[in-house]
Amino acid sequence: MDATALESEARTAIAAAADQAALEDLRVRYLGRKSPLKLALREVRDRETGMALNAARAAIEQAFEQREVELGSDVVEDVHFDVTLPGEARPLGQLHLITQVRRTVEDAFIGLGYEVRDDREVETVEFNFDKLAFPEWHPTRSPRDTFFFDGTRLLRTETSPSQIHIMEEREPPIYMVSIGRVYRRDTIDATHFTIFHQFEGLAVDRDLTLADLRGTLLHVMRALYGAERRVRFRTHYFPFTEPSMEPDVSCPICGGEGCRVCKQSGWIEMGGSGMVDPAVFENVGYDPEEWSGFAFGMGLERTAQLRHAVPGLRPFWENDLRVLRQF
Ligand code: DAH
Repeated sequence: MDATALESEARTAIAAAADQAALEDLRVRYLGRKSPLKLALREVRDRETGMALNAARAAIEQAFEQREVELGSDVVEDVHFDVTLPGEARPLGQLHLITQVRRTVEDAFIGLGYEVRDDREVETVEFNFDKLAFPEWHPTRSPRDTFFFDGTRLLRTETSPSQIHIMEEREPPIYMVSIGRVYRRDTIDATHFTIFHQFEGLAVDRDLTLADLRGTLLHVMRALYGAERRVRFRTHYFPFTEPSMEPDVSCPICGGEGCRVCKQSGWIEMGGSGMVDPAVFENVGYDPEEWSGFAFGMGLERTAQLRHAVPGLRPFWENDLRVLRQF
């Protein structure tokens, strides 16, 4: 191999290269792993030949550098990308289970023609208790049960103040559901936390009866827990309804056969409800002789637990993605 001849041949070719691509081809031809120069270098046995070949390589490398500068590197031309390659998938989040249940509740009520409200969490004694006809002696008025900021402001203990807000804003007919956070000074354990979510319904119209309340709850329970569900009432007491009823739904876990979740009774307590107390209508300036109404309030966590057989409340607040991703 004549190193000098190779060098001058390479120099001529490099000097004539028209662009970066041509230069790249020449680089492969003269300096690539299988180029005659590289093959010869690998075979070298004596010092002289080695020095001559190395000198030729250095000279060719320098010629490449020089030509590269002369051509000016055209960066844009150099970037090759394949537009047919699939892109990189970005990690996608998903809605928290409580948000999913909230939307299911909203959809069920929107289907009935209800409007959806989202009221304030910082309430006043007036809206949280007084206008809902809570008697002075009622235990939730105590700072042992409720978070007070001062004598008049507190964190709402229920979504029921929404009833007062909407009735003070407007005249009937009213069909609304209010969904949001409520706060109570409960001792925290597996099934209690100081924050949870409720949905609150209110209907005010002419000639509404307990049968309307029952039919509405049946529709919603079936939307939430499946078409097989049944609803029953037990009498109860709430300050702002008369009569007051606690609705039970037939156990969605065992279908009413009896299981651990429903404590073998076949029924699950779902919250509170009743016919709006005439005293509440008077507090918002409605004529109780003219208007009738029903109301109900229930927990979203409980709904989520029953729909997905989630044990306890902790999974909703720990925000462990391994748990939340399952829903
Ligand atoms: N606010 C009640 C609670 O948190 C639930 C409730 C009962 C809401 C009766 C109502 C109702 O609207 O009519 O325990």
